[in-house]
Amino acid sequence: MTTSGTSARDTGVCARFVQVSDQQVPSPNPWSPLKISSAEIEKEIQRLADGESGLDGRRAASIVHPLSTDPGLGLAPGVDVTIEVLKPGEQTVVVRRNSSQVEIGIRGAGTVEAGGQTFGLRELDVCTIPSMKAYRHRNDSSDLWVRLSYSNAPLLTKLGVHYAEQLTGDDAEPDIGRAEGRAAASGNSATDGDYTREKAPDFPIADSGARMRGYEFLVDIEAVPNDALNWPWTEVTRHLSSEVGDGKRTIMALYNPATGRRQGATHSFFVTAARMPAGTPARRVDRGHRHTSMAINYHFSGAGSSVVDGEEIDWAAGDLLLSAPGWREHSHHPGPEGCGVFTVQDHPLQIAMESLIWQEDMYGPILTLGAEAGQTGYVGPREAGD
Ligand SMILES: [Fe+2]
Repeated sequence: MTTSGTSARDTGVCARFVQVSDQQVPSPNPWSPLKISSAEIEKEIQRLADGESGLDGRRAASIVHPLSTDPGLGLAPGVDVTIEVLKPGEQTVVVRRNSSQVEIGIRGAGTVEAGGQTFGLRELDVCTIPSMKAYRHRNDSSDLWVRLSYSNAPLLTKLGVHYAEQLTGDDAEPDIGRAEGRAAASGNSATDGDYTREKAPDFPIADSGARMRGYEFLVDIEAVPNDALNWPWTEVTRHLSSEVGDGKRTIMALYNPATGRRQGATHSFFVTAARMPAGTPARRVDRGHRHTSMAINYHFSGAGSSVVDGEEIDWAAGDLLLSAPGWREHSHHPGPEGCGVFTVQDHPLQIAMESLIWQEDMYGPILTLGAEAGQTGYVGPREAGD
């Protein structure tokens, strides 16, 4: 059918119709768990250090799951983990991109500049680089600097909307020192005119709570400042248990208030630091729990094992583990010497999509976290001790 003189055929492509009625009800189809050993990571760090840096100033390699396919390669669906290496004196080209990042220092030290914030990142320090903040990394130390960088770039790439630009010349320095985007800093005439959120129409419809609103509610949306944040390990460690029975938590979230009720470090990722002291009572291997969000663990001390859909996977300090592909049942079991773990999970993204379903007890209900009453008395699968 032709409308306004244009037909679908004019574009040279046509939609197809796929019968979906009477098909099987869909069910999650998660990837397999995957461990990248400390030896594998070390070998890749050495390879990057021995080679040439890229034109962007980076020495970087993404860790790709064998089931990952283009576009949007990653370690888990929608998530990549990149080993980032800089030699002494090196720095990266200034970049900004609409993906956001969580970084963990795993060796050495350097400086992160992002959207008006500057801080040092040492071993086990964590930081965020929010979307569209210009950023640069600089190794101003005398040793190799290595980070793990997690991002939602593969999801955006799959959606066909991963945007990135390198900022060079006169743009770079002003952008990296600026917390706001360029458009906001130079003034936005829409905020001064008649078409603003405050002046826009907004009417109730019927009696169900539905409304009709002016488009200004979107295009003049309330902004939530989201600066780059850092969590120095020297401060984080003080809040984690170091001896059995010291009354401190063994796992805590690294929280960014900009993410509100979605409890993220970024708008995509929930990040926890965990330390099980030596002598933590062994947990009886029984059933685990599962959730549609994925979990990637970086083990920085100790040793233990995880059980993922019945498969036991041993791990030790320096190992990275896709320990919980979405909806796989999993539980974690530190050994007698205890362990330290950073975990990155995409809960905030899934809460925003109202897709975070969670089954804490494999014989219990499936809850939609964020959309219905959650769990109380929660102590976590590592702490339950049963
Ligand atoms: Fe979990």
